[in-house]
Amino acid sequence: MKAILFTAFGGPEQLVLSDVPQPVPQEHEVLIQVRAAGVNPVDWKIREGLLQSRLPHELPIIPGWDVAGVVADVGKNVTEFKIGDEVFAYVRKPVVKWGAYAEFVAFDAKNVALKPRTITMAQAAALPLVSLTAWQSIFDTVQLTKGETILIHAGSGGVGSMAIQFAKHQGATVFTTASAQKHAYVKQLGAEGALDYKGDFATALKAYVPDGVDVVFDCVGGKTLEQSLPCLKKGGRLVSLLEQLSSEQAKTWGVSAHYVFVVPNGEELKQIADLIDLHHVVPPPVLEMPLSQAAEAQEKLRAGDVFGKIVLILN
Ligand SMILES: NC(=O)c1ccc[n+]([C@@H]2O[C@H](COP(=O)([O-])OP(=O)(O)OC[C@H]3O[C@@H](n4cnc5c(N)ncnc54)[C@H](OP(=O)(O)O)[C@@H]3O)[C@@H](O)[C@H]2O)c1
Repeated sequence: MKAILFTAFGGPEQLVLSDVPQPVPQEHEVLIQVRAAGVNPVDWKIREGLLQSRLPHELPIIPGWDVAGVVADVGKNVTEFKIGDEVFAYVRKPVVKWGAYAEFVAFDAKNVALKPRTITMAQAAALPLVSLTAWQSIFDTVQLTKGETILIHAGSGGVGSMAIQFAKHQGATVFTTASAQKHAYVKQLGAEGALDYKGDFATALKAYVPDGVDVVFDCVGGKTLEQSLPCLKKGGRLVSLLEQLSSEQAKTWGVSAHYVFVVPNGEELKQIADLIDLHHVVPPPVLEMPLSQAAEAQEKLRAGDVFGKIVLILN
C-alpha cells in the first residue's frame, strides 16, 4: 500500500510517500481503508522525535492518529463491525509505528466507532483526537457540570472548538481565549465571552466573573497556564494538555491541577458521533489536501496558517 513514512526523526523533508506492506488485522482488530487522515500538532512533534521519552517509537514510522474510512476486513473475534461499515477512530497504538497517513490501518475494534452519518469523511477524520481530548479533559477529568463556568484556552483550535461546544451543551458558561479575528467564530460555537490572548486575558475575564471560574482548560501551556491560576475560584479545577502543575503550586492557589494525555475510546467516540448527528455540535472547518502533501500540511498547521483542521485525502 501507499503510505507516508519517515525513517529518521527530523524536518518535513523526512516525510516520503512510499510503498509498504498492507497491515493484516489481528483477531480483535478491524482493517480500515483510509479515506481521510486528520493532521494534528502532535504529528510534527513525533516527526521531530519530541515524544520519544513519553511513548515507545519504532522506525520507520507512518505518522497520523486520526482516521475516517471504510472497514475492509475484520479479525475473527470482531462482532461489532462488518466489511463496508463507515468508521472513524483515534488510532494511537502502544508503540508509535503504524499510523493513519496510509491507505490502510488496522486497529482495535473496541476503540473504533461508526462515523457520524451527517458529515463527510474529511470532517469525520478531523474529529477523533481533538474531540476525545476535549471530552476526556472536561468530562472524565474535571467533571464539568451544568451551571459552572469554564475558561477554555485556544478556543479557535481543534481541541478548543470542540471543548466550547461540549461545555455549552453541558449547560456551562464558557469563556475562551482566541485571536481577535476569531472572536466571532468562538462566540458562534457558544462562548459567552471571547478574550484576546495577545492582551491581558485574566483582567478581561474578571469583568465577566469577578470571583473567577470553576474550571480552566489549558490547551496552550507555559505563561498561559501560569496566568490562568488567578482566573480560578478557590477550590477550582485546572486541566492542562501541555504540562502538570506542581502540587506545591496547586496548593498555593487552592486549586486541583490535572494533566491529560488523550487515550483511544470507541464508546466516547460513539457518544460524540451522536451529538454530531443530532446537530448539537459541529465539526471544525476542514481544509482538504492530498496525502502526497503531508509535509506541507504539517508545516502549514505548525505555522498557524489554518482556520480549523487540515485533513489528508486518499483516493
Ligand atoms: N495532551 C494531549 O492529549 C493533547 C491532545 C491534543 C492536543 N494537544 C496539544 O494541545 C495544543 C492545541 O492542540 P490543537 O489541536 O487544538 O491545536 P490547533 O488546532 O493547531 O490550534 C491551536 C490554536 O492555538 C491558538 N493559540 C496560539 N497561541 C495562543 C495563546 N497564547 N493563547 C490562546 N490561544 C493560542 C491559535 O488561535 P488563533 O488561530 O486564534 O491565533 C490556534 O487556534 C497543541 O500543543 C497540541 O499538541 C495535547
